[in-house]
Amino acid sequence: MLALYTLIFVTIFFSYVYFYRRAKDPYGTFHISFNKLPGGPDPPRTEWLNMGFWKDTEIFPEACQALALRLFRAASLKPDGRVLDVGHGSGDSILLQLSHPQVTKPALLCGITSLPSHHRRSQERVDKFLSSADSADAPYKPTVFLFEGDAIWRSENRDHPLSPHFRHQFDSILALDCAYHFNTREEFLRQSFRRLATGGNITLADLCFAVPPGPILKLFLWRVLHVMPKENMVTKEQYLQQVREIGYEDIEMEDVSSFVFPGFRNFLKQRGNIGRVFASLICWLQGKGLRFIIIKGTKVVGNNL
Ligand SMILES: C[S@@+](CC[C@H](N)C(=O)[O-])C[C@H]1O[C@@H](n2cnc3c(N)ncnc32)[C@H](O)[C@@H]1O
Repeated sequence: MLALYTLIFVTIFFSYVYFYRRAKDPYGTFHISFNKLPGGPDPPRTEWLNMGFWKDTEIFPEACQALALRLFRAASLKPDGRVLDVGHGSGDSILLQLSHPQVTKPALLCGITSLPSHHRRSQERVDKFLSSADSADAPYKPTVFLFEGDAIWRSENRDHPLSPHFRHQFDSILALDCAYHFNTREEFLRQSFRRLATGGNITLADLCFAVPPGPILKLFLWRVLHVMPKENMVTKEQYLQQVREIGYEDIEMEDVSSFVFPGFRNFLKQRGNIGRVFASLICWLQGKGLRFIIIKGTKVVGNNL
């Protein structure tokens, strides 16, 4: 009887996910509630939407910020550098770079995110920050340019930061918990390589696998959940090889799964039945070899724009 109920529940859940995904982007505004703290302001001050780095916290926005800080640290951001932050969602990683005392401040900060509502929200929050009294009086005046669209440059759009016509190169390109969505990540890494200045690097907080995923798992993640194109479901070794073949050097990869998945799962478990199902899904995927990594590659050689 229990098996039957489980089967019915799983069928309803995945039908819901399937039809929901056909209808709209999975990232809407649900994450705002994730950022609410007991007794804290409503709406909350942060709008993070990543899986978090839960080493020293059990609080969602703190874990998300910790993951962002971990990524920035791995990127060794250059003072007054030119940074491109891809898949920035509602803009917290952009605001963190502009304001956090421990983060090296960029002179130019560009962003790309695909969902129009996230782009608008980021623009609104950044404009508010830049025009706030604190920031208006401060000598630090960065140039911020946010682009709404796909991470991959595909058209003649000269405003896309990865377009060969874009007016700047970058010292750092960042992708915080998003590049596994890109179609394809390899193309994104290739275009990024062309737009990096010599000595610049790309740093990603990303997903890959410890062992090659089977065909059913690939089909499920791509065709049912639509979260990851099959080309992106690579092992750590294949990921490293792709990055190396594109031309990146001094490549570093750190597996931080144990600081990401258990904490995120515990958080999800406290968020009702849907949260519990997602927590079980993450547990199952981890069992199938899913890993959360931070990977960095540097463009050591001269430019090939
Ligand atoms: C897991 S969220 C991470 C958001 C943000 N980095 C953060 O830490 O709060 C993934 C983000 O990537 C964006 N995204 C997904 N596919 C994308 C694509 N192909 N190009 C640009 N952004 C994309 C989503 O809309 C979403 O905002």
